[in-house]
Amino acid sequence: MSTESLWQSYADTTSFPELHHDIEVDVAVIGGGITGITNAQLLKEQGLKVAVLESHRVGVSNTAHSTGNLYEVMGTELIELGKKHGTDVLRDVALSRRDAVSFIEENIRKHQIDCDFMRVPWHYYTTTEEHSEKIEKHLAYSREAGLPIRETQLEHPALRSVRAVMMDNQAQFNPLRYVQALARIIHDENQCLIYENTNVLDVDHSGKSVVLRTEDANITARFVIHATHTPKGVMAYHTLMSPYREYGIAAKIKDPQHPPGIHFGFHGEDHYSTRVYARNGETYLVVVGLPHKVGHDDTHHKMMLLENFAAEKFEIIEFTHRWGGQHYRPADELPYIGRKGLSENVFVATGFSTHGLVYGTLAAQIISEDIMGREHKYARLYSAARFTPVKSAKKFLQENVTVFTAMIGDYLRRNKDSLVAVAPGEGKIIEHEGHKLAVYKDETEGLKVCSAVCTHFGCIVRWNNDERSWDCPCHGSRFDTDGEVLEGPALHALAKADLVDDDMPLRNPIPIIKDNLQTGLGR
Ligand code: FES
Repeated sequence: MSTESLWQSYADTTSFPELHHDIEVDVAVIGGGITGITNAQLLKEQGLKVAVLESHRVGVSNTAHSTGNLYEVMGTELIELGKKHGTDVLRDVALSRRDAVSFIEENIRKHQIDCDFMRVPWHYYTTTEEHSEKIEKHLAYSREAGLPIRETQLEHPALRSVRAVMMDNQAQFNPLRYVQALARIIHDENQCLIYENTNVLDVDHSGKSVVLRTEDANITARFVIHATHTPKGVMAYHTLMSPYREYGIAAKIKDPQHPPGIHFGFHGEDHYSTRVYARNGETYLVVVGLPHKVGHDDTHHKMMLLENFAAEKFEIIEFTHRWGGQHYRPADELPYIGRKGLSENVFVATGFSTHGLVYGTLAAQIISEDIMGREHKYARLYSAARFTPVKSAKKFLQENVTVFTAMIGDYLRRNKDSLVAVAPGEGKIIEHEGHKLAVYKDETEGLKVCSAVCTHFGCIVRWNNDERSWDCPCHGSRFDTDGEVLEGPALHALAKADLVDDDMPLRNPIPIIKDNLQTGLGR
């Protein structure tokens, strides 16, 4: 069973250089996923000099863990958008997303990218009466917004619907193959520099130019784009968005068991997205679903539920892949795209919910136009400088109650475990002399001990028992078992502790919190 996503199994690895010397560019892009690479493409085409700074490998952080689905309508979110903003906004959101999908399709055609892009129908359905009202509302809002949606009936035994709607001409692809190919096409040594394993540790935009710092290089730029799914450092956006994890599994099935297209449906209390991916003579069923707030649920249990669902509904030959993906849900359901402040040269692209492939592409279109001094027709709709207190208020309060509960609850909890009580392959939070420690024991019983205090803003991380990571419940930063940042707004690794012996396991006192307000990107 692979813990990589299915898309990674059918993509190559990239090998762009690391950055070890100072450079000067027009635009620095933090993050080499679909948002960052598409931005770099569009800016290069306009004649600007761009550097992309990716902390891992191109596309592997979020793009490789997405659904690979591209569509303009949004299931339950469409209803929320209609309720909060009305059908004019809903129509504009759908049209802007349609444009972004067309852009991807045209890019693939123009550059002959082999990434399994296919136009397919999209379905939204329920197998029980209980959720019929949602389908009804979806239909009503879509019709009022003028979207070409229609009623249908799903007859496949695994997906048999009580009520269903569908829209033709949506799409699916392998997102990692697309982004890697695009990166190789645009990379050159003069105008579009792509660096991997290059971690931005600080951004100073207090001067006329922006200065980004890595371990051993400074990057000076006129503009900086945060294309990391959620902006790095401390920004107000983190209080307006909730971080969620969602899971995907892939299994070999007997073809053609699953009907063509993307199927998003309610099965009892839960909803699942299913589709088929075929390459190199193999056919896979892909099932995605069961989102939960980061650090707030048992991830292994979620994976098991996904597999149980697949096994119950389809004739599985073999489960092959399990992966988790992260997304950030904005309080008012609209992503934040554009300048952080109206007069600033710092751009953000965040709050994409589960639609990062489409919104990431759209963000690149909007931001590149702004940098070139033009206003994209959808720029105001997604303005990152907006704040909608009334629409956001309820969710804002709910989310911050969760954050404070996590902080206070963790500090009050007294964990009696000791280091020896940690089983191989397991992680535990342990209290030692007033410090919260994130303790992981590997299969050979080697202990890795870090501070459990998230370096973003001081919440206590929690163990993710399927993906073997330390996940922060507050704003979604995730760290590997060595404490290194995997994703999220944290800039710095968890503080590490050295083990001496059983009686005195810690040599170094653990810093309680790194003051990101002083050293981070928020200044
Ligand atoms: Fe914000 Fe951890 S991600 S405190």
